[in-house]
Amino acid sequence: MTHVTDQRVPPTTTDAGIPVESDEHSLTVGAGGPILLQDSYLIEQMAQFNRERIPERQPHAKGSGAFGRFEVTADVSQYTKAAPFQPGATTDLAVRFSTVAGERGSPDTWRDPRGFAVKFYTPEGNYDMVGNNTPVFFVKDPMKFQHFIRSQKRRADNNLRDHDMQWDFWTLSPESAHQVTWLMGDRGIPRTWRHMNGYTSHTYMWINAAGKQFWVKYHFKTDQGVEFFTQHEADQMAAADTDYHTRDLFEHIRDGDHPSWTLHVQVMPYADAESYRFNPFDLTKVWPHGDYPLQEVGRMTLDRNPTDNHAEIEQLAFQPNNLVPGIGPSPDRMLLARLFSYADAHRHRLGANYTQIPVNTPVCPVRSYSKDGAMRIQKVSDPVYAPNSYGGPAADTTQHVPSWQADGAIMRSAYVDHAEDDDWGQPGTLVREVLDDDQRERLVDNIVGHLLNGVSEPVLQRAFEYWRNVDGDLGDKVEAGVRAKAGEKDPKADDQANPARSSMQAKA
Ligand code: NDP
Ligand code: HEM
Repeated sequence: MTHVTDQRVPPTTTDAGIPVESDEHSLTVGAGGPILLQDSYLIEQMAQFNRERIPERQPHAKGSGAFGRFEVTADVSQYTKAAPFQPGATTDLAVRFSTVAGERGSPDTWRDPRGFAVKFYTPEGNYDMVGNNTPVFFVKDPMKFQHFIRSQKRRADNNLRDHDMQWDFWTLSPESAHQVTWLMGDRGIPRTWRHMNGYTSHTYMWINAAGKQFWVKYHFKTDQGVEFFTQHEADQMAAADTDYHTRDLFEHIRDGDHPSWTLHVQVMPYADAESYRFNPFDLTKVWPHGDYPLQEVGRMTLDRNPTDNHAEIEQLAFQPNNLVPGIGPSPDRMLLARLFSYADAHRHRLGANYTQIPVNTPVCPVRSYSKDGAMRIQKVSDPVYAPNSYGGPAADTTQHVPSWQADGAIMRSAYVDHAEDDDWGQPGTLVREVLDDDQRERLVDNIVGHLLNGVSEPVLQRAFEYWRNVDGDLGDKVEAGVRAKAGEKDPKADDQANPARSSMQAKA
């Protein structure tokens, strides 16, 4: 915002464009008399103000974003015909980064995964890549997602976040171990959004021009380098600048220091999936780089800030079902559930015609048969039904998205395990083979600090076992650290300090 020193500013108007007489004084009967119902500008101000807030996103409420472009730097057309990944293509895009569990005003530097959502405005419709800064997730079945998020948010009785609740859920859900190991390590608090990677986490399908299918995982690697905050630094920053990550991104783009990420993919031949040593669709597992090496695709650069954060970022609506020709879903059940969940959330949060908010509008023509509804802006024309004999759009049957073979009895079951599938193996590899001694030491400290924050004795016992399953030495150090720091503290002390939890356990 630039200061305006002379007085030649444009006149204020009502929302209908009518000049108003005063920005300061409401209309009254005499200087001390009542205000009048006919002061419709005052009423418009109050009414509009009362409607400024819209529902925040359920998870990922705190975040911000920017705009930029994706430029292809390598030829991956043998794997996909998707327009944004063809040689020479440049595609405009919108990005939103976020934390998961905190509300809209919560600190950017809390320990949490970060959302990494990208909307590509392609000539064949919007393509949304709604990922995180981690290659894995806490659960692998959508039935558990809602429960997981509730365990990270607030208790019913005192409206407080509660580490006992978090560890209760995690230790009863061993599939969470890989993501929790990641979360408690250095990657759990990125220094800035510019200093973190982004991953699809899920496996997707790519389809080339000849119709050949591949399985693929994306890795957006930060060109700024991965950097983190220690727990202590993050705590201090949460107090000093709640919006540190939001501010950092905005100011760097404003000052011309445009952050970028290089997109790499791991590509698995379609037929490998069945016999691969890990279930390639299990969201709690990675594909080791040694099995499927990274291949470069292109570069994403952010170079433009929003000018109205509400209109362009808060109303930005990502949905994993926005997949353009050349890209399809995989049998990952979490992904398949997400294909439904997001558009449903948008209809609730933004209204039925949310795709007509400019930031969500495709750059290509929209010729759907949707019509009417609150706040519809784009006009529809007859015919309003299909099939018709009046020249209305007709579906293109060549657009069939190849998928996979599925049959069997209808059931509720866990995934079929592949040869090396178990919940502890990959987090164990991360601890033993990827982290160095300093990183392992910080991992122990972070876990101990988190567990010392009001976790009850039965849950603590399970947490020690959980970490021993990941790595024996790590589990021993976590237990020793908790016991040493808790000193001679009575294990029941936390429950006495939290009568709500004692009564919940008594009921159990
Ligand atoms: P590699 O040695 O080839 O890869 C290990 C990867 O770990 C690195 O490339 C880096 O990925 C990531 N990494 C480095 N430091 C940390 C850290 N402090 N916290 C979390 N991740 C870190 O081994 P593999 O591919 O065989 O994987 C071994 C383990 O590494 C896996 O079990 C998994 O836990 C972890 N990992 C694997 C990834 C994969 O897609 N294969 C991706 C990330 C982690 P990056 O450059 O993406 O940051
Ligand atoms: C946001 C549901 C798993 C990444 C959301 C929202 C919902 C949701 C309802 C809020 C959408 C809105 O109001 O705009 C689910 C369900 C999941 C799931 C049901 C599993 C079954 C995941 C996973 C990832 C992820 C595995 C990452 C790989 C995100 C991101 C956002 C988000 C980045 C914020 C998008 C934005 O910036 O607007 N999720 N989610 N989610 N989710 Fe998920």
